[in-house]
Amino acid sequence: MDHFGRNKIKDLLKSHESFVGNNVIVKGWVRTKRGNKNVAFIALNDGSIIHNIQVVVDVQNFDENILKLVTTGACLKVHGKLVESAGSGQKVEIVAESIEIYGTADAEIYPLQKKGHTMEFLREIAHLRPRTNTFGAVLRIRHAMAFAIHKYFNDNGFYYIHTPVITGSDAEGAGAMFRVTTLDAANPPKKEDGAIDFVQDFFGKPTNLTVSGQLEAELGAMALSLVYTFGPTFRAENSNTPRHLAEFWMIEPEMAFYEITENMDLAEDFLKSLIRYALENCYDDLEFLNEMYDKELIERLKSIVNVDFERLSYTRAVEILEKCGEKFEFPTAWGSDLQAEHERYLVEKHFKKPVILTDYPKDIKAFYMKQNDDGKTVRGMDVLFPRIGEIIGGSQREEVYEKLYSRMKEMGVSEKELWWYLETRKFGTAPHAGFGLGFERLILFVTGMSNIRDVIPFPRTPMNAEF
Ligand code: 4AD
Ligand code: MG
Repeated sequence: MDHFGRNKIKDLLKSHESFVGNNVIVKGWVRTKRGNKNVAFIALNDGSIIHNIQVVVDVQNFDENILKLVTTGACLKVHGKLVESAGSGQKVEIVAESIEIYGTADAEIYPLQKKGHTMEFLREIAHLRPRTNTFGAVLRIRHAMAFAIHKYFNDNGFYYIHTPVITGSDAEGAGAMFRVTTLDAANPPKKEDGAIDFVQDFFGKPTNLTVSGQLEAELGAMALSLVYTFGPTFRAENSNTPRHLAEFWMIEPEMAFYEITENMDLAEDFLKSLIRYALENCYDDLEFLNEMYDKELIERLKSIVNVDFERLSYTRAVEILEKCGEKFEFPTAWGSDLQAEHERYLVEKHFKKPVILTDYPKDIKAFYMKQNDDGKTVRGMDVLFPRIGEIIGGSQREEVYEKLYSRMKEMGVSEKELWWYLETRKFGTAPHAGFGLGFERLILFVTGMSNIRDVIPFPRTPMNAEF
């Protein structure tokens, strides 16, 4: 019994030996009710575990007006005795002694009255979909992965650093950003030349929602050596794909004294340890998802934990793609960014395991990446996963002031805005590296779901911010 005066269904099902014969109290939502004139069976779920507990009701002992209100979706408190179940399908069940109704759910209009809704429909009722088996499983796995991430870093001597959500800088220099302002959109103050006068805005300058916590994390690494951020990140690109969100969560470790090889070693160990954690701690939910959506899910997760990721340069990857004879929608040529179809070919068909690509052409990567001696490539790395494509993007950072400064000039990155970033290279600079893991891409991989909108409770995508 916990301090809210109830037994969690998880405890009753998982440790039933210690509860059989006892009086118990469960509180939860009705998934189904079936039975006949004499006996009713209620499947109750409280979200502590994917499985329901069966409540057996001897109809003659109960007020029929109360039993009528026990419909799918209603919330109940049930008091009764936990007994070994006579029926098949469950080890234990509760013989009800009393039932109190917290909230009814009119069967005529409750949207989850029936099973088998499409994922698209469930997105329209994101306020109720946590009550389905699928979203219960996804949300518990999402929680477990967030916990495992903090645990991994804590166990390895990293410090969690909170980087700002509102910033004046553009870390990636590529994506569109969401403006943050308190100016009156209909009538903003103007300068003499007609441009909006941001000096009169809340922060006295233009600001936006962050696209990455990396630049601030680097400041932390230049003092605490090993740090990471884990927070919401925003990109205003109009990309309606199953792998892009406008608001997503990113994990960004940043390590002083790491070069690209240590960066790759960390990324690989980190991902494997998270997947191992899921296999060890979320098995009931994974089994459900494996059964319902993706029959190869658990095997795929196990295979990642035991394989060495393939490491090769971007240049070598382009050679493979050019020679492979596969028909792609987009052509491959040295110097252009790889498309998802190319990444997935390398991972799923050519190497048949996760791949880490390094040393990209400098013109398709951000200004902060360490420049190689060839003058053409930078020490970036992307980790590519089956079904997902890019799951991690990172790099060794350019730590030499002059090189960073001239690259910023070349790329039109404002050294006035990023003066504080440049100063880390002026005062006690050090080799360092880091990467960003897209949290929802990780959850997509671990749950086997196929659309990123279904692994975050309230997805933000173009034209969608209802809940
Ligand atoms: O490759 P990205 O853009 O890298 C960075 O932002 C660096 N500052 C990271 C670093 O080195 N600290 O993004 C990193 C990862 C991607 O690999 C992808 O998993 C995820 O973030 N990501 C997205 N996930 C969902 N929706 C989007 N729109 C995403 N954009 C990137
Ligand atoms: Mg990237």
